[in-house]
Amino acid sequence: MSEENQILLEKLKKYLSVSVCKERYDHSMRTAQTAKELCLRFGENAELGEIAGVAHDICKEMKSDLLLNLVSVSEYEISQIEKDKPSLLHGKAASVLLKNDFGVSNQDLLEAVSNHVFGKPKMCNLAKILYVADKSEPGRPYVNHEYLEKLQKMSLNELVEYVLENNIDYLTKKGKAISKETYELLRSVKGES
Ligand SMILES: [Fe+2]
Ligand SMILES: [Fe+2]
Repeated sequence: MSEENQILLEKLKKYLSVSVCKERYDHSMRTAQTAKELCLRFGENAELGEIAGVAHDICKEMKSDLLLNLVSVSEYEISQIEKDKPSLLHGKAASVLLKNDFGVSNQDLLEAVSNHVFGKPKMCNLAKILYVADKSEPGRPYVNHEYLEKLQKMSLNELVEYVLENNIDYLTKKGKAISKETYELLRSVKGES
């Protein structure tokens, strides 16, 4: 790993350890490992995959007013669904922190972190990988040997489609709202694969 990335990774781990509970810290570490492996499999930068995994939920336990403040002074727009439930801004907020406080300028990394909550059509490969890693890390209750074996045979777009459909199913069963972006993402990956 480059020295610059190593320093960034250590800083992010430290920040994460004081910002979220132990369970979420562990989830982030497993997401980082999964993202790293997916990067190696699909020929993407594994260092960025690991960093994206560690960084994606750094704002997950931030208070609503802070999240709204942070994102409202950034380039990102805040949708109605996010106004109603500011915790959904934790991806965009993390991307703002990465840029402003951690000096990250890599666009793929910022795009991956900001879009990990809803996804977006035509995401870069790193963003697709983080999206998949977040939902298929081995700590997720539905992830078992059979599930992982199935994932092994899929292309990156097929993976996005698969975890998305699983996610929509899960949210629907829980009576939760599905964002327009999520449906657009599903349509777009179906067209891409
Ligand atoms: Fe998240
Ligand atoms: Fe996550």
